[in-house]
Amino acid sequence: MNLILMGLPGAGKGTQAEKIVEKYNIPHISTGDMFRLAIKEGTALGQEAKSYMDKGELVPDEVTIGIVRERLSKPDCQEGFLLDGFPRTIAQADALENLLADMNESVDYVLHIDVPKEQLVERLTGRRVCPTCGATYHVIFNPPKEEGKCDHDGAELIQREDDQPETVKKRLEVNVEQAQPLLDFYQDKGYLVTFDGDRNIDDVFVDIDKKLGGLVK
Ligand code: AP5
Ligand code: ZN
Repeated sequence: MNLILMGLPGAGKGTQAEKIVEKYNIPHISTGDMFRLAIKEGTALGQEAKSYMDKGELVPDEVTIGIVRERLSKPDCQEGFLLDGFPRTIAQADALENLLADMNESVDYVLHIDVPKEQLVERLTGRRVCPTCGATYHVIFNPPKEEGKCDHDGAELIQREDDQPETVKKRLEVNVEQAQPLLDFYQDKGYLVTFDGDRNIDDVFVDIDKKLGGLVK
């Protein structure tokens, strides 16, 4: 199954992605995670991405499209994939259509998690992540079993640099502006499925899971 997860920053893309890839066994391709890894490894790509991410802006299309092209060409994507946070502009969406056509593939669903904008600031500023395994928590909505420690590996949880209130504000502005044209693009193609993301994490997943169950042969 070839899937795209869409939603504003903090809508719960990463949170639902963890559950989808575990159940359906497809690779999770998050452009944000790929950029964060490149920053951690100190590569040229990481340096470039950081200069945009720190300001809450989008990384230029040609850079982002390049890393997705490379990732989708890996053998593990042949049985499907879950794109998270890509595409985020119409130029990226067009590029993805071309990439998939070259692979003789197409998108099955664009899973759109819809959450009122007013709630996203609280979700983002309360987010904590595991630097070791990437698991995502929230201090109120999804706390770890032991405060400040990852359930999977006990690592000390950290806050993402771009989850500071000023950067969050900018990220939301940038993404709200890009979102509607993309939703229209996928609505026109008939791929778009919207989920009410203003419910608890497990309830959102139940609905996504029901939809995806229909794709399994
Ligand atoms: P990226 O890492 O993709 O960040 P984002 O889109 O801003 O999305 P987030 O990861 O912040 O949110 P999420 O929807 O995954 O929410 P989560 O599940 O964690 O991108 C970062 C940066 O990289 C961008 O700003 C840009 O610079 C660059 N970039 C990435 N892709 C790019 C692209 N294609 N083009 C150009 N630049 C790109 O949940 C958030 C919090 O809420 C968590 O604490 C979670 O526990 C909690 N939560 C989740 N679901 C619920 C629920 N149902 N109820 C209550 N709390 C919930
Ligand atoms: Zn962990």
